[in-house]
This record gives sequence, C-alpha cells and structure tokens, in this order.
Amino acid sequence: MAQIAELKAGELNAQEFIKEKAAEIAKTVGSGYAINALSGGVDSSAVTMLGHKALGDRLKTYFIDNGIMRKDEPQSIVAIFKKLGVKVEVIDAKDKFFKAFKGVTDPEEKREAVTQTFYKDVFADLVKKSGAKYLLQGTILTDVDETVAGIKRQHNVFEQLGIDPQEAFGYKIIEPLVQLRKDGVRKVAEACGLPRSVFNRMPFPGPALAARVIGEVTPEKIALVRTATSIIEEELANTTAFQYMAILHNDRVTGMRDGKRDFGLQIEIRCWESIDARHAKPTRLPFETLEKLSHRMVTEVPGVVSTTYNITSKPPSTMEAI
Ligand code: XMP
Repeated sequence: MAQIAELKAGELNAQEFIKEKAAEIAKTVGSGYAINALSGGVDSSAVTMLGHKALGDRLKTYFIDNGIMRKDEPQSIVAIFKKLGVKVEVIDAKDKFFKAFKGVTDPEEKREAVTQTFYKDVFADLVKKSGAKYLLQGTILTDVDETVAGIKRQHNVFEQLGIDPQEAFGYKIIEPLVQLRKDGVRKVAEACGLPRSVFNRMPFPGPALAARVIGEVTPEKIALVRTATSIIEEELANTTAFQYMAILHNDRVTGMRDGKRDFGLQIEIRCWESIDARHAKPTRLPFETLEKLSHRMVTEVPGVVSTTYNITSKPPSTMEAI
C-alpha cells in the first residue's frame, strides 16, 4: 500500500491545489462522466466544487437522503449550491438505509451497513443510470489513518484496506483531498468560493446520526437524536468549539415525571476542542450552558430523563460515540 504524503494546512497554497486537482480530475475522467454525493459537509462540498471546476455538467451531484441527516438538511444544502450554480439532485434512499440497520447493534457492523448501502446499493444504481465510471469523494487523511489503524471503519475508505472499488462496486473512486486534514480542506473550500457557513462548518460524520445512536438505529431513535442535535446546535452555535453532538444511549435509567416513576432515556452531550480531529479535549462549557442544555433535552426530547456531559479527552475516547 502506497504511503500518502500529507499536505499540511500551513504549507498549502489553496489556489494552486485547486488548479492541480481540477486538472487531475479532468485528465482521469477524460470525456466521460463522474458522480459525487454531497452531504453538505466541508469535505464533500469542496470535492463538489473541484469536480464542477474540472468537469462542469459532466459531474452529476446527488444528495442522498438516507434518513439519518440533520433537520432540514436536504433543502438547505440544495439551496446553497443552487446559488453557486451547482445542480444537486436529491435521492430518497431512506427505506434502503433503515432496512440495512434492522437488527444491527454492533458499531462496526452499523458502519458497514452504511458503507454497503451507500456504495453497493445506492451509488451502483446511480452510476448505472448516469453512465458514469467514476465516483468523486472527499476522503481525507484522518479517515484513512483511523481506518487503517483499526480504530474506526470510516465509511469512505477502501483501497487502503485492500478493497478495489471497481471490483467491489463496479466503479472507480477519485479522492482529491486525501493528502489533507480538516484544516487544509477548509482552506481549499474557502478558496473554491464556498460560503463561510460551509467552509467553517462543524465536521459531521459519514454515518451521520447513526453514529450517535447506541444500539439499533430506527426511524424513531433517529427522530429523537435529530431533535437533540438541533437543540445542541442552536445552543452552542456561538462557541468556537471544533464539534459538538448529542448521543442517544440504549440503556434506560429511572427518572420521575409528574410524581410518577419514568424509566426513561439518556442523552449524552459532547463538545470538543481540536485542530485536526486526531486529538481532542472536552470544552469547558459554563455550567449555566450545560444546565440550559439539560433543561431543553428533558423538556423537548420525548422520553428523556437524564443528560450527561462527557469530560474525557481523545484518546482514549473518540469524538463520535460509535
Ligand atoms: P472520531 O469519532 O473517530 O472522529 O474521533 C473524528 C472525526 O471524524 C468524524 N467521523 C467521520 N467522518 N466518516 C466521516 O466522514 C466516518 O465514518 C466518520 N466517523 C467519524 C467525526 O465526526 C470527527 O469529526
């Protein structure tokens, strides 16, 4: 396996990088078509812009509505890219994903369910329909490191695990960001003309809210964690934290409501300080902020009777819960 040469954010000339990568993409794809999936995160947004610079209308960009995204995500992403002149088609794949999650509780099996559904089921269909031979995707160096080290199987890493996407899924994958870490991708995204709300956007994992449900992922649990996520994103929007998230636990605890026992749900809040996601420390949030978050969780997320705040660093914690 070839070693990937890291390109540090401090040494990156974003304009040169964009020119170089757009030329590489154009050369690889030739006169054919490519597709890519836009999730609205900084990585897939930067790749979408690079691909459009290189291929114009010969890049078909899709937003896969997998049912595990945040509130109002498809509509807001489509609107942002429309302003930039990039057409995004929304593909409703909710049923396929929830079917794949049925009965799955092991974290790595859950990630594998996302991977297989994305690449084998949804993309393979789109590739066939569009006549594309290439999938453009925003894998970054941290995804590769953690997967190869066996820490977490990131949904978008194949060749470094000895998997040939052409053989496994029937198409080739192009990864123009693979030498960069998050800070480098943000520089590229800004230089591509993306708005601050995108290039500065908090990271969000490929397995989306499924990474924040412990145990089986169901539409009902996703709805709960989606509400909890909106609350935390509203309340912490003015912090400078690297990333924050709400996690729905599987174990219940005894609480009380209206003077009666309520064996209810638990939400764990995490808020991280980090530069590149390899190491992270919990943010020292003011206690008043934590109290407000807790109050909103137990009053606005149905069935929640307990809220906790994670104070462990990465390592040994990881940032996401699964
Ligand atoms: P962890 O949980 O490994 O997360 O400490 C480090 C950073 O990566 C994000 N993350 C992912 N991103 N696919 C992604 O694209 C994934 O499977 C995935 N898992 C974690 C996480 O949100 C954090 O920013």
